[in-house]
Amino acid sequence: KRHRFANIPPGPKPWPVVGNFGGFLIPSVIRRRFGPEADGSSKNAASVLTELAKLYGPVYSIYAGRQLIVILNGYKVVKEALSSHPEVFSDRPDIPAISIMTKRKGIVFAPYGPVWREHRKFCHTTLRSFGLGRLSLEPCIMDGLSNVKTELLRLDAESGGTGVNPAPVISNAVSNVICSLVLGHRFDHRDQEFRSMLRLMDRGLEICVNSPAVLINVFPLLYHLPFGVFSELRQVERDITAFLKRFIANHLETLDPDNPRDLTDMYLMEISARRAAGEVDGGFTEDYLFYIIGDLFIAGTDTTANSVLWIILYMASFPDIQDKVQAEIDEVVGTLRTPSLSDKGKLPFTEAAIMEVQRLTAVVPLAIPHMTSETIEFGGYTIPKGTVVLPNLWSVHRDPNEWDDPDSFDPTRFLDEAGKLLRKECFIPFGIGRRVCMGEQLAKMELFLTTTTLLQAFEVRLPEGVPAPPLHGRFGLTLAPCPYTVCINPRR
Ligand code: HEM
Repeated sequence: KRHRFANIPPGPKPWPVVGNFGGFLIPSVIRRRFGPEADGSSKNAASVLTELAKLYGPVYSIYAGRQLIVILNGYKVVKEALSSHPEVFSDRPDIPAISIMTKRKGIVFAPYGPVWREHRKFCHTTLRSFGLGRLSLEPCIMDGLSNVKTELLRLDAESGGTGVNPAPVISNAVSNVICSLVLGHRFDHRDQEFRSMLRLMDRGLEICVNSPAVLINVFPLLYHLPFGVFSELRQVERDITAFLKRFIANHLETLDPDNPRDLTDMYLMEISARRAAGEVDGGFTEDYLFYIIGDLFIAGTDTTANSVLWIILYMASFPDIQDKVQAEIDEVVGTLRTPSLSDKGKLPFTEAAIMEVQRLTAVVPLAIPHMTSETIEFGGYTIPKGTVVLPNLWSVHRDPNEWDDPDSFDPTRFLDEAGKLLRKECFIPFGIGRRVCMGEQLAKMELFLTTTTLLQAFEVRLPEGVPAPPLHGRFGLTLAPCPYTVCINPRR
């Protein structure tokens, strides 16, 4: 018996030491129970966890090593936990591989409490001022998109009909939006320093999620091993630190309080204001700023870039839907100007198509791990204090109690009979509750502008004679599409 509470949620039997670690063992449980997968390839970790709910119910448990993890499945249970008991379900666990790098500072992995709250409030307000105020990000996003169009065309021409992998170009553009926001600097997409920074971030995430370094979570001392991915991880961390610290030092030297350029300037001014007011416990320090910047890069780049990549892939895979989106853009925006945020609200089918892709792909399928800050009776079980809780957003978006024919791709489910956009409570790609995504508004802005601008200019098609790319994705920190290529045909 692994737990002092008798009534913890049921789940697959853990193995000694490793538990049901990393989900390695779960697919075999599923296969034993349901037989071999019909198509052999339609599963990712989140869909496997969703299947397990059929066996154990919407609230069930697994173990990573000795750590109890409770998975919440379906809209009713996820909403009940995150919205009705936010004081209990809003903490974040201390995950060794992550805490070593984040020191539990910043926002994303910071414990629930006053320091997290103050920082979230500050960043949220600052982000809003960038979205709406004088430092608007719209021109910056549009500028990046003009580069994206040129690059995609160039690469397509070079490909000789085999198509372009849009991932690097999209990832560059999205990272540049975060760079403008936090560092006040847009990089040329060919800038070597910028490219190597993006490669470092990718590699860092890849090592943390998809390499033997995941074992650091069970045996934290492995982090200090002087070889292999362990020493590579430390080197990646040193390089990223040096890059960001250079930028902060430069901001400190050139800060003009009458003319803040970006979030870093605003934060440095906040530190001074708080110091002048004799405030010491809000946690606003230059050291903390470093972790905030890291958070915005990690939370704001992969998520948005993968969402855009999914949208392109779905549009190429469902040409009839792409045609309808383009017909709507042509009618409302026309061809004489590029789309803008003022078109939002006038393109319901396009917005519905974006939402439907987000529903089916749930780019952050298990949210970011939550942790209970006290023991709670929930869903008929006892969930002890310190339990890691994974809200399975993938299962919410495929919940048959909420969606008709949940596996089918049908944007019209987000439209009423008059063709107006419907807001659905159970559509939660950004999570819900106190830890809901802080960049939701910015992300929606980017998805809208990118989708409309690219589809106004291009028809995207899958290359002929190549098998269609799978639509189940690759599960890392976010759910990314498997690498694919598309042909880019200018529409005019
Ligand atoms: C957290 C989704 C873009 C900043 C989250 C969470 C999800 C999410 C599911 C976790 C919620 C939870 O733990 O319950 C997405 C998606 C995006 C996106 C799907 C793009 C389509 C962004 C952007 C930014 C951002 C552009 C920043 C500029 C954050 C932050 C958190 C977060 C700071 C942590 C909030 C906290 O712990 O208090 N996001 N996100 N996200 N996101 Fe996003």
